[in-house]
Amino acid sequence: MNSWMISGVFAIFVLLASTGLFFFVVTRGALVLRGLSADSKSESSHVYPIYSNMRLIKLVDFQPIISAILLFQYHHLVSKIVSELKQMDLRKKKVLITSCAFGNVIPRVVKAAVESGAERVLIADIIQNELTHAKSKLREYDGKVEFVEDNATAMKLKDGGVDANVIFFLLHELPHDLKGQALNEAGRMLAPGGKLFLAEFHRPQLWVLRALSWTYFKVFEPLGLALWDTHDPLNYLEATGGWTCERTTYFFGNFQIIAATKK
Ligand SMILES: C[S@@+](CC[C@H](N)C(=O)[O-])C[C@H]1O[C@@H](n2cnc3c(N)ncnc32)[C@H](O)[C@@H]1O
Repeated sequence: MNSWMISGVFAIFVLLASTGLFFFVVTRGALVLRGLSADSKSESSHVYPIYSNMRLIKLVDFQPIISAILLFQYHHLVSKIVSELKQMDLRKKKVLITSCAFGNVIPRVVKAAVESGAERVLIADIIQNELTHAKSKLREYDGKVEFVEDNATAMKLKDGGVDANVIFFLLHELPHDLKGQALNEAGRMLAPGGKLFLAEFHRPQLWVLRALSWTYFKVFEPLGLALWDTHDPLNYLEATGGWTCERTTYFFGNFQIIAATKK
């Protein structure tokens, strides 16, 4: 190996290591520190700084980075939700997006909902900065979209008030006792026949991927691993008995979209 190659490999290593360190500091690292402080328990204490600090939100919300984090499956996952929404007749109906997410998922979901006739799209998030940031992506839908500061696990919306609800990669970030609560709330707010679309991580079939994924969760997002077994959202919904569920997996089972229809 000549010195150019050694320098190149070293530069890539430094880049990957510093990216990993950055993400650790603005996600799990910050939560560990927060846990040490006396006032660590609030309803948003599980939320990473990456979602609450406006500078960090703007720094990270760059489509190639977001797609890479989801192993370039982001587009497929969003497309599945969009195509399901497009098949629904949402005239005079409301669509809810429970919690914001980076990338173009929100504009694509809003577009699909509006094209299917939805009279209003509600976007709820526990962090005001996330709502402000989402609003900046949705200027062309002024008047159609409403932004609500609310908690997915105890929402202010009335029972049966929406006909579709999209939850994109929220559950794996919630403490375990709140995962079921968020699903219960999703069910409460949906009208009968309404659809819940859940995008989440899933237990990969390939052992190599499973090992890498397990390491990722252990380091960055320890609350996510339970979705593989004890807190599988599909099992949870089916156990409540009020849903018909369909699961589609992506990238050797590493990701899933659950489309659940409320009976
Ligand atoms: C959906 S999750 C993660 C999305 C995913 N990592 C991405 O951006 O592609 C992040 C969002 O959930 C929000 N959030 C976290 N806990 C919440 C809760 N209990 N209720 C509502 N929103 C919540 C955060 O404020 C943040 O906007």
